[in-house]
Amino acid sequence: METASKIKADDPVQILFVDDEKGVLQSLRRLFIDENYEVLLANSGEEALEILKYHFNVGVIVSDQRMPGMTGVDFLKRAKQIAPDSLRILLTGYADINAVVDAINKGGAYRYITKPWKDDDLIQTVREAEKYYSLSRRNRELQTVVEKQNAELKHWNSELEYMVQEQTLELQKNNKILEDLNVSLKRNFKNTIIVFSSLLELRDKKMINHSKNIAEISVKIARAMKLPGIDQEAITVSSLLHDIGKIGIPDIMLLKEFEEMDDREKKEYMLHPVRGQAAIDSVPTLRKAGILIRHHHEWFNGEGFPDSLAGEGIPLGSRVIAAADYFERTIRKMETDNDAAVALSHVKESIGSRIDPQIYPYLESAVHEMYAKMRANAGMAEKELSVNDIREGMLISRDVKSGTGVNLLARGTVLDTINIEAIRRYYELDPSTGGIFVVEEQE
Ligand SMILES: [Fe+2]
Ligand SMILES: [Fe+2]
Repeated sequence: METASKIKADDPVQILFVDDEKGVLQSLRRLFIDENYEVLLANSGEEALEILKYHFNVGVIVSDQRMPGMTGVDFLKRAKQIAPDSLRILLTGYADINAVVDAINKGGAYRYITKPWKDDDLIQTVREAEKYYSLSRRNRELQTVVEKQNAELKHWNSELEYMVQEQTLELQKNNKILEDLNVSLKRNFKNTIIVFSSLLELRDKKMINHSKNIAEISVKIARAMKLPGIDQEAITVSSLLHDIGKIGIPDIMLLKEFEEMDDREKKEYMLHPVRGQAAIDSVPTLRKAGILIRHHHEWFNGEGFPDSLAGEGIPLGSRVIAAADYFERTIRKMETDNDAAVALSHVKESIGSRIDPQIYPYLESAVHEMYAKMRANAGMAEKELSVNDIREGMLISRDVKSGTGVNLLARGTVLDTINIEAIRRYYELDPSTGGIFVVEEQE
């Protein structure tokens, strides 16, 4: 490595001739005068070894065998250690067959040439040796470059890998933040919708939990019908807000059943689905729900309002809400609170007129599921707890209201960390004198 770095690519290759006879050395120099080599001469093995210590591009060494002091074989042996890349050639007489064998075995000689040599043969042999040396040197240089580039590549690869890992981590972190934000946005959004829906019911006390019950039934139907998630979401939101257009209706009218209203009042009442749609139309994400709200009073036979749509012309979500709404208003009028079967039988009479026949079976199973759960819990011991004693998994057995009567949680809700936190906050802002009635839910 060190020697290679001292050699420039266009430096001529050095050829070292070693002979004790000065005359021989001179004739060798003359012989190679036209070749593109730097010719080095040494009178003895010792002198040649010195030269090798300071010349790093000696490609070929040609040494006489018979010299006083160090023999050619001994010299080549030592030269091999100093300049292992040089090609070594022994000049020897016919009789020195042992020296030749030694030179090849011990001195790693590349060739031997017998004395007296033929000039052309010698030049040819040296040229071949030099070519071999230069090619090996070039090869080694290339290998060094390749190794260096490989090492660099490896370095950049690990750098790159590190950077990719860093960025992946960063992306994952950001994704998690976005996901959390999304979850909290969705929760806030849903809470806002629930607040809106209970605001309306605060005015119309007899309709408390009407929207929440409809939402629960409608979502059960939508799930059973395997509607896409986006439609289920629109159905939830529009169920909660379906009567929001009633906000503009005078209190006195809200107390009346539709049949008890006069023509002018009926006309006014029939505007609420359109008003409801208009109220939320400025929120783009609510527009889909707005359409469902507009059509929640359409009848399957086309006799509903506001657009007298019929059959499949009515959006599916609106047909689901209409069925749930009709059932909920029917059971609300019943004497016995939980008589779901009686209410269902009333609703059943309206299949094909008011109610979509395709939806009714789903309504029936949703109602059974919901009211079976209520009945199962009805026989269980009810406890009144303070707001600090309520725990996750408990089932609310009576509607929870704040001190001023704001409806906080509907009967039938299972407590979780979110609604517990909300109740506690409300109880601080607007304390209620009573406790919270729960039963512990059983699987
Ligand atoms: Fe309505
Ligand atoms: Fe309604």
